[in-house]
Amino acid sequence: MRGLFVSFEGVDGCGKTRQMQFASEYLKENGFDPVLTREPGGCRIAEEIRSILLDPKNAEMSPYTEALLFAAARSQHVDEVIRPAVEAGRIVMTDRFLDSSVAYQGFGRRLGADSVMDINRFAVRGMLPDVTIFLDVPPDVGFERMHDRTSYDRIEESGERFFDTLYTGFLSLCDRYPERIIRIDASGSKDETREKVRCVLAAVLEKKGLRSA
Ligand code: TYD
Repeated sequence: MRGLFVSFEGVDGCGKTRQMQFASEYLKENGFDPVLTREPGGCRIAEEIRSILLDPKNAEMSPYTEALLFAAARSQHVDEVIRPAVEAGRIVMTDRFLDSSVAYQGFGRRLGADSVMDINRFAVRGMLPDVTIFLDVPPDVGFERMHDRTSYDRIEESGERFFDTLYTGFLSLCDRYPERIIRIDASGSKDETREKVRCVLAAVLEKKGLRSA
């Protein structure tokens, strides 16, 4: 039986990583054993590609190379981790997936949503999320939340205008895929957002008829 594939998306500083941990706790409390993973990365080869992508020293990387490397890392991640787990009936939750490429490279780097979607369809060969949770935090709030950090990766160094544009990209994805992408207002406290995510997951489990083993 096919399991469930869930991606978490949002601008930097939206709290995805923490919320995924909360979501995992919720699933475990309900008897599931979710697989948690992340992009770029999630397996050895993809983690190596991640280091190249995020290294601030690679400042001269072209937007095309960037988009192709994200897609290449994703392809390996799908083959090695996501597809086998979903086909084995597991719930897989990933911190970012293909929508990040459409928002960051398609909109942020202005390569175009359709071109970026095309290379990613080739990369993932049908493995699209059943549900995407978009944690909606406006880019300026995300920026504010990132202030505590002492260092930034190459993408985070792209400037405020870039973040505004990619946020517009996420909103346009929400309009384009209303069946798949669930938008959650994540500008409140961590606990408020945790409750909203729990409600969404409960509804998805119910709808898909998923019960713990
Ligand atoms: P991530 O590790 O999720 O950073 P954060 O915890 O700050 O969200 O992702 C690293 C960076 O890579 C982040 O700035 C988003 C960017 N990114 C893309 O530009 N395209 C992609 O396809 C993905 C998956 C991430």
